[in-house]
Amino acid sequence: MKRVALVTGGTRGIGKAICVALKNQGYQVAANYGGNDDAARKFTEETGIPAYKWDVADFEACQTGVAKVVDEVGPVDVLINNAGITRDSTLTKMSFENWQKVIETNLTSCFNMVKAVFDGMKERKFGRIINIGSINGQAGQYGQVNYAAAKSGIHGFTKALAQEGARAGITVNAIAPGYINTDMVAAVPDNVLEKIVAKIPVGRLGEPEEIARGVVFLAADEAGFITGSTLSINGGQHMY
Ligand code: CAA
Repeated sequence: MKRVALVTGGTRGIGKAICVALKNQGYQVAANYGGNDDAARKFTEETGIPAYKWDVADFEACQTGVAKVVDEVGPVDVLINNAGITRDSTLTKMSFENWQKVIETNLTSCFNMVKAVFDGMKERKFGRIINIGSINGQAGQYGQVNYAAAKSGIHGFTKALAQEGARAGITVNAIAPGYINTDMVAAVPDNVLEKIVAKIPVGRLGEPEEIARGVVFLAADEAGFITGSTLSINGGQHMY
């Protein structure tokens, strides 16, 4: 039986690359997405991977959405919490709404999604949960108190949950990407991005496929002794 993998925010950017890489490894993959129907349709046409729309910040929507995936694709063996947004601004200019939106979408979503799959993984004595954190959750970033707090929270969430899953064959790990060639990073003003890239030892942005490679490694059946860890994939920008 093929293992089933569910990727949140799976139809674009890093999530899309993760879906494709897992499919190429023989997983039965389902993608979740939040808003962009056009991109989701193109993604499914291109990859043959089904896409399911719900808001990962909404607890009930996650329970219903995952139940549908289980029904149509199968019980989830591998969960990739990848969905995330930015609402960058300095603290002075940041609204409470933009604080809350980023915390709920990037961090509370991990709780919402894990609640929907964890008991099943425990019963089946196998699970792989991979949370996509960020270099900016490790090092902080000017203009991102909301995003850095959420991503930093993901790293704590990962280490705590790893302890709860370990005896049941469930590993929980994080990947901390650096600056990757995606729409999210393209939204950073050019003059700011230039300065950031100048500080990356490898001398370029990363590619989504380079993050997907880490996911494939951590998702493998053979990766059962790796849990509670953070894999930094950032071109040497932050060695942590
Ligand atoms: N450290 C210290 N000072 C800084 C600074 C820094 N890193 N960056 C900017 N400043 C200063 C500027 O020099 C400027 O000072 P002066 O007015 O004295 O010249 C002041 O702060 C205001 O800077 P901006 O003109 O940039 O302010 P703004 O309000 O127009 O924009 C911002 C602020 C929205 C935060 C903008 O700087 C920005 O978008 N920064 C990029 C943030 C970023 O890296 N986001 C990552 C998105 S991708 C992602 O998150 C994926 C991932 O996981 C890596």
